[in-house]
Amino acid sequence: VEKNYEYGYDSSSEALMQDPYPLYHKMQAECPVNHTQAFGGFWCVSNFEAVHAAAADFRTFSSTEGVGIPNSPVAPLYPIDLDPPLQTAYRKILNPRFTVEALEVWRKPFREEVNRLIDQFIRRGEVLLAKDLCQIAPLSVVLPLIGIPREGIDELKGWVATIIRYRSEPSRAIPAGQKIESYMMELVARRRTMPPQDDVVGDLLQAKVGGRELTDEDIYRTVTIVLFGGLDTTTAAMLEGARFMSAHPEEWRRLEADPSLWPGAVEEILRFSSPAQGMARTVHKDTVLEGVPLKVGDKVMLLFAAANHDPGKFENPDKLQIDRCPNEHMAFGSGAHVCLGRNLARLEVEEILKAIFRRMPDLKIRPDAKLEYHPSEARSLKELPSVFTPKG
Ligand code: HEM
Repeated sequence: VEKNYEYGYDSSSEALMQDPYPLYHKMQAECPVNHTQAFGGFWCVSNFEAVHAAAADFRTFSSTEGVGIPNSPVAPLYPIDLDPPLQTAYRKILNPRFTVEALEVWRKPFREEVNRLIDQFIRRGEVLLAKDLCQIAPLSVVLPLIGIPREGIDELKGWVATIIRYRSEPSRAIPAGQKIESYMMELVARRRTMPPQDDVVGDLLQAKVGGRELTDEDIYRTVTIVLFGGLDTTTAAMLEGARFMSAHPEEWRRLEADPSLWPGAVEEILRFSSPAQGMARTVHKDTVLEGVPLKVGDKVMLLFAAANHDPGKFENPDKLQIDRCPNEHMAFGSGAHVCLGRNLARLEVEEILKAIFRRMPDLKIRPDAKLEYHPSEARSLKELPSVFTPKG
């Protein structure tokens, strides 16, 4: 019997990305590895076990031909578009700044920045949580951590957003890609003339891979993904957390009464929201996944978000339960490419939610707000217009 593998997944569809979970569940129930004709055609992997297995097998499922469908105009970026062992060499350079211990120095400055931003609107009694807070706050850590100056950041952020959201529109994405490249190449060239500094660019200028120093281009390709990774995804998780807490003040009170619940609550917000819905691979060895034959050159989308809502893995997967245990989600991917910035994202999501609800305990999403998501694998609420009792 000829099986119908076509499920029509298309992350550029506004309607689908508003709520992709019904489609993910249909895939899981009927045909966990299925096909879509979007963007030239690719396979979608939707169940936890298969996504996990594919993410672990970089020899079969390679990242070297890009992890976006369509691919980003700035690819390849390092280490995301590399396979081990080269990928591992870059991770060794980057990892030390992103451990739980190393990141702890950023907690206080981040908290202060969040409170400073809240001061700017707390008398108004209303706020656009994305624009006024959750899109800006992550910059205060990620820019100095990398070594990107604050000046000119609005323009740079605009180009990054264009690439993340309009990859499927070359007339918008390609010029934005060129701007980012020239910005980053200039930054690296300038840093070579300056005294060494204690940041990611500094680490990369000192580092060697395979016995040779990195070129300006190698450094640009690395810095760019650290910046890309650190912005919209984290914002998306913060907004989803704020939306949940505002609707469930009793859960907020539970967290305040027992702060040991916080890390688990943050993991659950990450699982539930899965801001990176999926990452692509290219098949480098013929294989069979969930009974479906995949051929060399086929594109495959690993749907981490679907895996994180797989009823075969998580009970009541579409319910956010702050004390969910166990909670082995893949919001940060898994395998060799597991997110470099995961500990930073965790720190920022926890700190911002605490600050929002401590200072605006009755914060509510405006009842008349139309909540929409950016249609992309980088799925994020566009805005979260909110109201609260103003404080003098
Ligand atoms: C909630 C926030 C975040 C989410 C959901 C997220 C998600 C992910 C996922 C799913 C991957 C795996 C990519 C793959 O398998 O191809 C990844 C990789 C990566 N992320 Fe994140 N990320 C977040 C925050 C961050 C932050 C804050 C940074 C840096 C400041 C960052 C930097 C990176 C980098 C550099 C990689 C590539 C790692 C590699 O290829 O070895 N991410 N992220």
